[in-house]
Amino acid sequence: MPGDKSISHRAVLFAALARGTTHIRNLNRGDDVGASVVALRALGVQASADDGQLCVAPVQPFRDPQGSIDCGNSGTTMRLLAGMLAGSVNALLDGDESLRRRPMERIAAPLRAMDADVTCGPHGLPPVRIARNDKPLRGVTHDLPVASAQLVSSLLLAGVRARGTTTIHVPAQPRNHGELMLRAMGAAIDWTARSVSIKASKLHALDTYDVPGDLSAAAYFIAAATCLTDSRISVLDTGVNPSRVGVLDVMREMGAHIGIKALRERHGEPSADIEVSASEPLRNIEISSSRIPNLIDDIPLLCALAAHADGTLVARGLAELRVKESDRIASTIALLRAFGVAVAEIPDGISVRGGRPLRPPERVSTGGDHRIGLTAATLAAMARSPIVIDDAECIATSFPDFATSWQAAFAR
Ligand code: S3P
Repeated sequence: MPGDKSISHRAVLFAALARGTTHIRNLNRGDDVGASVVALRALGVQASADDGQLCVAPVQPFRDPQGSIDCGNSGTTMRLLAGMLAGSVNALLDGDESLRRRPMERIAAPLRAMDADVTCGPHGLPPVRIARNDKPLRGVTHDLPVASAQLVSSLLLAGVRARGTTTIHVPAQPRNHGELMLRAMGAAIDWTARSVSIKASKLHALDTYDVPGDLSAAAYFIAAATCLTDSRISVLDTGVNPSRVGVLDVMREMGAHIGIKALRERHGEPSADIEVSASEPLRNIEISSSRIPNLIDDIPLLCALAAHADGTLVARGLAELRVKESDRIASTIALLRAFGVAVAEIPDGISVRGGRPLRPPERVSTGGDHRIGLTAATLAAMARSPIVIDDAECIATSFPDFATSWQAAFAR
């Protein structure tokens, strides 16, 4: 699997704040993480690819970038950079058409509460403008209304440089890759399920960081193997951080045969080999809103899998999907309908009635959202029918080698 996208962003960006050089292996090679690498170079950091690994040699202070920093399609790049740069440079963070529609005031406002000068464009949208401060940032307590790992990591990147303690309360636990990496780098950080605190700390480089495979990328393979008669696949060295495994838990509860082997841990991040075999019958379940942060990126895929299962899948608490790379409630419903699936929007969620044969269309559109493209490929495999995926370039956001890997796993 490609390197985990969330961990890759953090490995690259956090390395730029550390003392010493970091060598990152199995970095995700998609466009999103590429945007984080290019951003670092604009700040004067040396980030060079060598022998399949990326070497990051930090400079402090960062230099003011010339022109705006292009975060492309990547919300993670924009939000993490905002926290990492707040107070220390003059910079303008911008992005593509999709990113320009995504809310940034949710990070600008808490950074301003730490005395940073961070402002957004009209309606709280990009570009995000950061101005250098005369005084250091101030640690404060934040009560975040959304369980967003991007916001938590961003505020930690400001907090690790701020006077005093920065505490962040969240309504539910999002993925905690940032917390684990900062602890491994020597930060004075502590957390419980609903809050994280960090004190000003010097970070040391991790020397070599091996990024585990991306579970959200693996999930498409796991779902397809579950539905295709006689399948048996192993997905090697993939991240199984408990704050991310909701997608596997739900698939198991639906009746999928999924085994975890060779569990290991690197810098606090667990990974394992995941073994999957064809599983019949699958039964749909209800996914309550408290579980959503743990599987936020996997909802379109789980809705596709639901089409193959008996009964009705109900998922609630999906408001955050409206502000992802596309409005993912709308784009998931449109994709499933194109395959003839009985799917409906319900208050704050989606319901999918399964068990009917799929009616694959000749072609579908991704609307520029990689996860919709990857879900379309999974539906086509489940239907055992070729389709054309228009505007499929967006899949390179997270998984540039997808076509080759998919072919290797499933082409007969
Ligand atoms: C990410 C966190 C999630 C996820 C996104 C990557 C991260 O967003 O949807 O693809 O790397 O922190 P939120 O935490 O903002 O929901």
